[in-house]
Amino acid sequence: MKFNSLFFVLIFVFFTSVVHAQRTIDKIDKDWRFAFGGAIGTNEDYGFSSAYFSYLAKAGFGDGPASSKFDDRSWQRIQLPHDWMTQLIFSPNASPSHGYKAGGKGFANHSIGWYRKNIFIPKADKGKIISIKFDGVFRNSKVWLNGFYLGNEESGYNSFNYDVTPYVNYGKENVLTVRVNATEEEGWFYEGAGIYRDVYLVKTNPIHIKDDGIFITPQLNKALTHSEVNIKNIITNDGASHQKITVENTLYDPNGTLLKNVDTIVAIGKVLSDISIPLSISVDNPQLWDTDNPLLYSLQTKIYDNNHVLLDSTSEHFGIRSIFMDPTKGFFLNGKHIKLKGTNNHQSHAGVGTALNEGMIYYRLQKLKAMGSNAYRGSHYPLSPVFLDACDRLGILVIEENRLMGINPMHLRNVRKMIERDYNHPSIFSWSIGNEEWMIEGNNKGVEIADYIQNYIQTLDSSRYMTAGLSNGFKVGMSSNIQVMGYNYLGNGDIQDHYEHHQLQPSMGTEEGSTFATRGIYKTDSLKQYESAYDRKPRPSFYSIEEGWYYYAKREYLSGVFFWTGFDYRGEPTPYSWPSVTSYFGMMDLCGFPKDDYYYLQSWWQSKPMLHILPHWNWVGSESKNIKVVTYSNLDEVELFLNGHSLGKKEMPINSHLYWNVPYQKGVLSAAGYRNGNIVLRDSVVTSGPVDHLDLQLENDSLSQSKGIYVVKVKALDKFGYFVPDAKNSFTIKNSSQYKILGVGNGDPTSHAPENYDTIYQQKVLNFRKLDSTLHFVINSFSANNSCIFTIYTDSSFKVKTIMLNGKMIHSKSTGIFEVSNELLKKENSIRIVSYDRNVKLGEQNSHTLRMIIQQKIKLKENQLSLFNGLAQIIIQSEQLPKLESVKTKNVFTLSIGDVK
Ligand code: GAL
Repeated sequence: MKFNSLFFVLIFVFFTSVVHAQRTIDKIDKDWRFAFGGAIGTNEDYGFSSAYFSYLAKAGFGDGPASSKFDDRSWQRIQLPHDWMTQLIFSPNASPSHGYKAGGKGFANHSIGWYRKNIFIPKADKGKIISIKFDGVFRNSKVWLNGFYLGNEESGYNSFNYDVTPYVNYGKENVLTVRVNATEEEGWFYEGAGIYRDVYLVKTNPIHIKDDGIFITPQLNKALTHSEVNIKNIITNDGASHQKITVENTLYDPNGTLLKNVDTIVAIGKVLSDISIPLSISVDNPQLWDTDNPLLYSLQTKIYDNNHVLLDSTSEHFGIRSIFMDPTKGFFLNGKHIKLKGTNNHQSHAGVGTALNEGMIYYRLQKLKAMGSNAYRGSHYPLSPVFLDACDRLGILVIEENRLMGINPMHLRNVRKMIERDYNHPSIFSWSIGNEEWMIEGNNKGVEIADYIQNYIQTLDSSRYMTAGLSNGFKVGMSSNIQVMGYNYLGNGDIQDHYEHHQLQPSMGTEEGSTFATRGIYKTDSLKQYESAYDRKPRPSFYSIEEGWYYYAKREYLSGVFFWTGFDYRGEPTPYSWPSVTSYFGMMDLCGFPKDDYYYLQSWWQSKPMLHILPHWNWVGSESKNIKVVTYSNLDEVELFLNGHSLGKKEMPINSHLYWNVPYQKGVLSAAGYRNGNIVLRDSVVTSGPVDHLDLQLENDSLSQSKGIYVVKVKALDKFGYFVPDAKNSFTIKNSSQYKILGVGNGDPTSHAPENYDTIYQQKVLNFRKLDSTLHFVINSFSANNSCIFTIYTDSSFKVKTIMLNGKMIHSKSTGIFEVSNELLKKENSIRIVSYDRNVKLGEQNSHTLRMIIQQKIKLKENQLSLFNGLAQIIIQSEQLPKLESVKTKNVFTLSIGDVK
């Protein structure tokens, strides 16, 4: 080896050993095991917490699945984010708020979920601080590492983390167990269940930057020429060393160019204490963050020990921008007036429930952006960190909302966690302290509580606004002391009157709309529970989307409005109940397919020329009857044509629409949009023939695809390629194992079709009977589907000699996992277990328990999926672009994903 290369090897060794000391953050979403527990009965819950000394009695005494010895091999293999509700059927006895999914409240066998994961931690990590970080678990989770109980997080919306350092087995596998109890609901909307956000394994030096310990507050001058970037670093000493450290903060501009580097030397003193280091960096001629051009700076913070060895480093992005809400003139971003054009949303999507991974988040936010929306209210709970990152990068202004109002430690802790975690996101312009708290919003209790929380928030963040969604008449209570008035609905009070009496209070519409519409439906059919998609006043005290926007657009003092909602969501199926399982409020359906209101907002919310015509033109049987034709456009005039004949040109009123009554005649109904007298755009609807083929299109763009998600739109076309707007055809999917289908949907609010393409069905068998006086146990029968994959598991404490299935021996070893081939299975099956243990007793105290889990992987049957009004959606997770093919044989539609035999 030449000297040179030896030198480089030595340098490499030196640097890699130094790098070891630094922070590593690994997403640990892959390779988890999942099984349903039981809310009633210890046996149903794998014997959890049945030991004489429980996990609450002695450290490290986690039992059942919380013990590292538990055998979870028969559990389902899953990947996070995971919402177990997507696997469940719908039931009329289930909660309407949660979309009638047969889990959670009232379903003891599907309200507890157990998760387990093995994590190897090498010996080299000894000496580091090791922690596990959860972005969100719904809800009431308990966590153990190697049987050591780490804690309980009740909230389904908080992020939380646990220091696990002393419990780690170095150089070995470590078992992380999470028990999720989704029995109770926190909301009145679908909330999913399980570990539905990301989980991370974090390793740091004992002297490290605190989790959520970098606070960046840029202050922009009025002339926008200068910003003082105020920074606070919080450094924690979890070790025993007392020393001087150097904290280095380096600022990079949006192009990645280094702007400034500041070193601060501080003495790390007491063990288990934090020190806070304030500093300020000046930036001249800053590149501003705004909704069109969301430019992001980054701050890298590094800490070095007294020998200049790197101990920790983090990087945070932030934006330089100013926000100002003027009580009479509205919202200003960087001194420029803009109207907040927002939507409220919940976090559920067809097929995946609340388990929205990054690719899905981008897909949804881009859909809202394309509608012209520049703002988002995270109603009614804190959002996920990846979601807020996406808002920063896409330029979406956010109201982030606290879940439950109150002044006790639990309430304040939740507010603090939200603010400290999300402090650096430029997208957030306002915190919301709550929504429609009916018991308090209109009285003095509310005033007192709102004062308390607002004062508390001021101690954490004085750089943003505070609001609440209020619905109680806007005359009394919190509507006078909330910093920014949040009007929930025109129909709930006199907004103008409130403004006239509160001229120093900025305001916005935190909710408006709540209209009902079903995509592609133009005649309300209350038997089928479909609502017409023509924009209209839904209830006496609610207004149409156009009436809502018209009101807000006209009043300068109103900073903007957030419509309820951007997307349909599971639950809250107002004005219906069972069998409807999703809401009807969205501008888009549960898949993100636009309803017509989407285009109304698009016409006044964005400046690109647009033109949209409704309804569809398939009205066979209605010949010569008048059909109301509506056009939405931001052009000057629109002319309508039926089969080439002009039906007249009309001038488009601002913030409104045009309509014609057209006697139906099949053919082509088209509209031409004019600007300055010239045709700029055309749109048309065509009477289609029957479905000829299903077209497959990738709906999400390359940014969302780069996160490993492909959203496929299935679209019914006739033989001339025209869209078939009322098609309800069923289809079958075939996929190669290379691609995982995360979920399927079609936006039908009454659809009870399975959401998961592969559903894992778990059946726990507890009803073994002792057959004779010695050692035979039988379970009479259990049912199996022919197409299932099948696994049997017995409790490891039980000594098994043989297991017979339908009279044939399937295994003869003592315990464990038994795979059974399909050929052995009938519709009804019986299992007989012969034990070595002659004295075995079942189901009595201090005796063995014999438990079996049957796991069946049920593929969707042929033609179990269908289009709804011409469309359906398939969500695919894949590292590469999936090959898509659609085939029709004898009127059967088969969609293949990847190379399928
Ligand atoms: C509001 C409420 C929302 C939603 C909506 C439906 O009062 O804040 O969460 O329930 O009604 O119209």
